[in-house]
Amino acid sequence: MTVASVLGRCTASLLCTTILLACVNTTARAEASRASIDARVERLLSQMTVAEKIGQLAQVNADEGKMSDKLRAAVKAGMVGSVLNAVDVATVNELQRIAVQESRLGIPLLMGRDVIHGFKTVLPIPLGQAAAWNPELVEQGARMAALEAAASGVNWTFAPMIDVSRDPRWGRIAESFGEDPYLTSVLGVASIHGFQGDDLSRPDAIAACAKHFVGYGASEGGRDYGFVGIPEVELRNVYMPPFKAAVDAGVATFMTAFSDVNGVPASGNRFLMRTVLRDQWKFPGFVVSDWESILDMVVHGFAANSKEAAFEALSAGVDMEMASTTYRDHLAELLAEKRIDQATLDAAVRNVLRAKFRLGLFERTVTDPAAFPPVASAQNMALAKKLTTQSLVLLQNRNDVLPLTRASLHSLAVIGPMADDDYEQLGTWIYDGDPALSRTPLRAIREMVGPRVTIRHVRAMETTRSRTTTAFADAVAAASSSDAAVLFLGEESILSGEAHSRANIDLPGNQMDLVRAVKSAGKPVIVVILAGRPLTIEPILAAADAVVYAWHPGVMAGPAIADVLFGVESPSGKLPVTFPRVVGQLPLYYAHRNTGKPPLPGAFTHIDDIKVRTSQTGLKNKSWYLDAGYEPLYPFGYGLSYTSFAYSDIRVEPARARVGVPVTVRAVVKNVGKVEADEVTQLYVQDLVGSVTRPVRELKGFRRVHLRPGESREVSFQLSADDLAFYGRNMTRATEPGAFHAWVGGNSTAELRTDFELTAN
Ligand code: BGC
Repeated sequence: MTVASVLGRCTASLLCTTILLACVNTTARAEASRASIDARVERLLSQMTVAEKIGQLAQVNADEGKMSDKLRAAVKAGMVGSVLNAVDVATVNELQRIAVQESRLGIPLLMGRDVIHGFKTVLPIPLGQAAAWNPELVEQGARMAALEAAASGVNWTFAPMIDVSRDPRWGRIAESFGEDPYLTSVLGVASIHGFQGDDLSRPDAIAACAKHFVGYGASEGGRDYGFVGIPEVELRNVYMPPFKAAVDAGVATFMTAFSDVNGVPASGNRFLMRTVLRDQWKFPGFVVSDWESILDMVVHGFAANSKEAAFEALSAGVDMEMASTTYRDHLAELLAEKRIDQATLDAAVRNVLRAKFRLGLFERTVTDPAAFPPVASAQNMALAKKLTTQSLVLLQNRNDVLPLTRASLHSLAVIGPMADDDYEQLGTWIYDGDPALSRTPLRAIREMVGPRVTIRHVRAMETTRSRTTTAFADAVAAASSSDAAVLFLGEESILSGEAHSRANIDLPGNQMDLVRAVKSAGKPVIVVILAGRPLTIEPILAAADAVVYAWHPGVMAGPAIADVLFGVESPSGKLPVTFPRVVGQLPLYYAHRNTGKPPLPGAFTHIDDIKVRTSQTGLKNKSWYLDAGYEPLYPFGYGLSYTSFAYSDIRVEPARARVGVPVTVRAVVKNVGKVEADEVTQLYVQDLVGSVTRPVRELKGFRRVHLRPGESREVSFQLSADDLAFYGRNMTRATEPGAFHAWVGGNSTAELRTDFELTAN
């Protein structure tokens, strides 16, 4: 709460006076601490040589996580500001000791690591976490990861990745919170709070890093590192909001993208870093490049050589260079030639030093793991299980085949390459994870049903990519002699993540044939998919009675999935990304613009049904694919439950208001089924006319509610002017007067609607 907001809300009451005083005190303390940090930065800066300044801007990779003589010497000489990938606590402590005790000025090191979805306790991949639509749990997960990482001496994570990701071919969609700017903003902020805690100087806080600024998720064709062509209005309205939210949440650092953004690589992009990030958003932290992304500007053809790359990057506002050494090799020369001035160099060094002071690194450089809670504790595993459970999305449940009933089950076939693979269930970026901690679905199902139920396990395929079918007969036999078959399919970890894009996002290998073969046994077929992205799974819907999407669920995959399969928990995850029918529909996302000729429901003719010599306009001139229609397989926000929810009584107050007056949308959600369950209620808004065209719908709020059978609850969402603001034709952000639709429901196709109008005065 700011002083201004208190003043704005309070009348003269004793409580307000007390709050106000507390606010003034907190603000005064924050200002004092800022002033004292600034003074310490200036004192230190005034003692530094040019070489030492350049040293602070260097981030060096620890070889194999250990310490080479070269690294030891560089740290001692004050030539290193940060080390990445050292996580052995003895090595980290020794590096810090050298920096603090043996370097001339004793400046401690930032110890960076990709702590992406847990550290030792591996949580679901971020895309899976997003499917839980639960910011509190995401924050708790990041807090847990921060504690585990800090116990190894890590004080900086390269997370969260808040690239809006609308193309599942892109392997890094796994690391994202999905396609929506609002959901990504909320979950990004939750992660930042989790990593950094309330006070960055506490030993259990680690600095977060908002990455990759900006537009990386829109890599052309879903190919990693690809060109990004995004009009400024789209950059500002879709790709930048999560980053702006991160700045407002106090994120300590930013990372640039590998991308060439509209012709200027992000690591040399003055518009992005100077105009937007510093001048307009007032970001006080520091910016790190991505891995060698400064040097990559030579390959992009944007800089003639590494010296020019260093010039472009520092001039654009990259404070620290990751992995490559263009700053170390050329900044002194650029300075001597007066192409870079002292003030530009000093500003970058200040940004880095300020972060070190904010983190309290000068006050503590020794990490004592014993001072931290144990890693992978029962408590951490329980949190992982909870997050995983809420991330599971039930996509299909024909004839209520799920949940399985323990009491009447005698035997179950558990089939597939992902059923009992402790490594593959963890997903991408698990440097510090330990597969030995993994609880697999097979093991958890066995524990769940006990010895009374016969479990017939057939892996059937060595990997998800296998082409051999020799073990399929065993799978069919297992299914035939069991009450039902559960298949664990999907993609292995290596098929998603950085540089792991796919042009075809079907189930790889012969998995589809495996489903069909098992189906021939005539028993109920349940498919659980573990994957790093949405896959084009339409072909399995005919063969499978039930489909559960589990993403890469992390260490507690098994217990979470078993709870859902056997109805201990009702599934409550919702898709954070649209599922296409075929890859050719991509990119496909719910918040698209309308065309002038949108699809006409009911008038679509599929390619197979087109009559010979149909006239040019006989199929209607509408925006659709003749061979794939215009709808996704599953819309954003979708997910089934073991119960049903009914939405009613939508209303908005006031229905007509001046721009600036908050508007509240309310609706009632009722559990009309037979089991208690969570529902993620969602609010979507359409701004009907804008100075630039607006999306057909935009998510503006969501709430997870728990309802017993028959119970109903009113959910309400307040929309401020800021919530409805966007960058319009003149590239300024404003809330434009006019008419709005608002829908409340369980996914992005919700039909329960109300309307309101904002007037200019
Ligand atoms: C990735 C970053 C990551 C960095 C350090 C790069 O290749 O793009 O997201 O933080 O490596 O490991």
